[in-house]
Amino acid sequence: MMDTYKIAVIAGDGIGPEVIAEGIKVLNKAAELDGGFRFEFTHFPWGCDYYLKNGEMMPKDGIETLSKFDAIFLGAVGDPKVPDHISLWDLLLIIRKSFDQYINLRPVKLLKGAPCPLAGVGTEDIDMTFIRENSEGEYAGSGAWLYKGKPNEVVIQNGVFSRMGCERVIRYAFELAKKEKKTLTSISKGNALNYSMVFWDQIFAEVSKEYPEVETHKLLVDAASMFMVKDPKRFQIVVTSNLFGDILTDLGAAIAGGMGLAAGANLNPERKFPSMFEPIHGSAPDIAGKGLADPLATIWAAAQMLEHFGREDWGKKIVDGIETMLCERKTLTPDLGGNSSTSEVGDAFCKLMETF
Ligand code: NAD
Ligand code: IPM
Ligand code: MN
Repeated sequence: MMDTYKIAVIAGDGIGPEVIAEGIKVLNKAAELDGGFRFEFTHFPWGCDYYLKNGEMMPKDGIETLSKFDAIFLGAVGDPKVPDHISLWDLLLIIRKSFDQYINLRPVKLLKGAPCPLAGVGTEDIDMTFIRENSEGEYAGSGAWLYKGKPNEVVIQNGVFSRMGCERVIRYAFELAKKEKKTLTSISKGNALNYSMVFWDQIFAEVSKEYPEVETHKLLVDAASMFMVKDPKRFQIVVTSNLFGDILTDLGAAIAGGMGLAAGANLNPERKFPSMFEPIHGSAPDIAGKGLADPLATIWAAAQMLEHFGREDWGKKIVDGIETMLCERKTLTPDLGGNSSTSEVGDAFCKLMETF
């Protein structure tokens, strides 16, 4: 019997709709060529335009509506007309939290043909998988704003690190390292963050006892940033907190081809709730509406979605296809030195898929 995957599409703002259109083309093409599965896409017009009209980023029952889908495909959220902490909290972050997507899996892999600003570094030197904690930590949303506008005004932003929250993400990273026979590096900051990161380090040490076969490393986040540039090959699987993972994966994007190539999966490993797949870049207002956005990150996120559905063959073929596009250099957007438009890249990719 043919499997049908029901996908909620939130194209969002800025370049979101431009790149999502190409991701959908690729998913439909994979389904057509495979013959064993199909997609049913439902589009939700949520985001900043919706907010400007309705005063909310999505309807009150938005989360309940999304819960009925097999996965969410998200473009990007954010518009200069809406404060970022409103647009991002009330849509992206609330989805990650409501659906307990506590794993943010972000490949930092330099494909053949991708530009790399580092001297003397080859594709074999940059091949990491970041496991970013995605449900709590610095993004717990806990704090206070006291005496607003008064001379004694104070703001407090709490980091919340629960035992369960740290253990489950660290254990997930160990399982992946064990399965892929790779090293695992924990990135933290216990020297300064004397509660949260000391706790993180302690839990990393505890869980590591269950995995004697996994070679582990531990780095402070400042040194880790330096080594990602100076000696990226020391990293394979990486596990880190929500904020550090956010920052380090933009750095990862910079050394592995740019924002146009960086994808991420927000996973609920128990599959109790839908997982969400997205490029890690934002709405890029500086290039929106011009056909300049690189859709390859979104196409890579589509590959992650196929893997999530057990279609690892398609996941791999699509990432290999991105590499082929990069090596051929025929149809690329300007960020990768080409002069093709967003939709030309998507169309060329679908054509290439016919040769897989
Ligand atoms: P950004 O990622 O949107 O852009 C940073 C730079 O990278 C820009 O110069 C942009 O043109 C370039 N870039 C990004 N994606 C590209 C692509 N696919 N192809 C070519 N170039 C690309 O980050 P920002 O400017 O800091 O944020 C813009 C808005 O997006 C803000 O509102 C921010 O809060 C939001 N944001 C949303 C998400 C998300 O929805 N997941 C992620 C990050 C930022
Ligand atoms: C990302 C983004 C988000 C994050 C923002 C937009 C809230 O930067 O997905 O990397 O910090 O998680
Ligand atoms: Mn980010």
